[in-house]
Amino acid sequence: MACLADDGNRVVGVDVSISKVNLINAGSPSIVEKDVDGLIKKGWEAGNIEATDNYKTALRDADVSIICVGTPNNKSGHLDLTRIHAVAQDIGEALAESDRFHVVLIRSTVVPGTNEKVGTTIEERSGKKRRVDFEVVSNPEFLREGTAVQDFYNPPVTVIGTSSNRAFEIAKSVYRKVDAPVRKTSIAVAETIKLVNNSFHALKVTFANEVGSICKQLGIDSHEVMDLFCQDRKLNLSACYLKPGFAYGGSCLPKDLRALRLIAHDNYVDTPVINAIEPSNKYQKQRLVDMITETGIKKIGILGFSFKPGTDDLRESPIVEIAEILLGKGYDLKVHDKNVHLSNLIGRNKQYVNEKIPHLEKIITDDLDEVINNCDLIIVANKEEQYADLPSRYPGKDIIDLVRIEGGFETSRGRYQGFCW
Ligand SMILES: NC(=O)c1ccc[n+]([C@@H]2O[C@H](COP(=O)([O-])OP(=O)(O)OC[C@H]3O[C@@H](n4cnc5c(N)ncnc54)[C@H](O)[C@@H]3O)[C@@H](O)[C@H]2O)c1
Repeated sequence: MACLADDGNRVVGVDVSISKVNLINAGSPSIVEKDVDGLIKKGWEAGNIEATDNYKTALRDADVSIICVGTPNNKSGHLDLTRIHAVAQDIGEALAESDRFHVVLIRSTVVPGTNEKVGTTIEERSGKKRRVDFEVVSNPEFLREGTAVQDFYNPPVTVIGTSSNRAFEIAKSVYRKVDAPVRKTSIAVAETIKLVNNSFHALKVTFANEVGSICKQLGIDSHEVMDLFCQDRKLNLSACYLKPGFAYGGSCLPKDLRALRLIAHDNYVDTPVINAIEPSNKYQKQRLVDMITETGIKKIGILGFSFKPGTDDLRESPIVEIAEILLGKGYDLKVHDKNVHLSNLIGRNKQYVNEKIPHLEKIITDDLDEVINNCDLIIVANKEEQYADLPSRYPGKDIIDLVRIEGGFETSRGRYQGFCW
């Protein structure tokens, strides 16, 4: 309220708490927060700020309403959205008496599906039509208490979840003084992002704490370790590794994660987050086996066999494990990988293949057409260029895509399944 008023908007706060309403109407903040007191006073003196417990008064001349009521956990841990729905009813009743197009921004943290329900409630209570008379936009808040004003003006991004261009432009104009890129997204994405952000932040805290606990036990300076960790902005603090897809594998990640987990274990340090990584990765592989089984198809082609494109390294390649499982279940398998030539494999790589898939030479080929023509279900396991337009080249084929091949999603025609999208 303080920042929006300072940006030149007239803001009317509505709250069920009369003491908060009274504070604002006396030009005082209702929270302790750096810089907010000065901004509230300034806005109040300029006549841009007032508060009420009456929705109808507040919405009489409003173009936009911002829902920012609390959404705490209920007893089971789900978000309690009763306040959101109570506000939706009140907004609906207030809009019944208005002829202006109105945009409702859901700023509170909610769960996917909330926007739809809020829209329906407002339609029912107001007798107005969504899209025609009003629109509901999902617009999550990213500020943090303690630095709220600073964060308000410098969020990482302004997310506006809507399919309506008209509502998007109005929502965008609310944040015209905010220094941040604006991202128009689907409603569902906007409703999901805040939960994902905060869960990741919690993961970061616990990961760093577990590293700290291990280091302390070993007499190593954990702050120096994590400072160095944070200096790596190529792999550690970057978009790297953050694309939903198949399980990790290869000769390094599984091995070194296991080593760190066991150092913790051997030194009596509990590290539940680090311990949970391997089971989570294993579960991802089971998911693929389940997806394949559910298709009922028995002739399977695997495109890409090494643990990542551009290498012939098969060690701990997660797709090798899947092949092993499928062969064990009697599936008819063909594998394509232009980088894997059995005659060239040496050392531990060769040993790994011999142990896991001793008859690999019978099923692997570098002839892509042979695999595709002889199989009814194609698993794309590496992001090689030659797999990019498979769905459009073979529209009748069932495809499970583990790597989100270019264009696959768009040309699916129902026979394409993204692995986790
Ligand atoms: N606090 C933060 O830093 C922060 C940051 C990002 C997102 N969020 C999200 O924003 C939402 C609000 O968080 P908060 O910390 O400001 O909550 P809060 O509980 O401090 O404030 C919510 C206000 O809503 C009022 N209220 C409740 N029911 C009402 C109704 N029917 N009509 C009018 N007013 C009503 C309450 O009296 C209270 O003053 C939550 O979903 C939270 O997850 C908060």
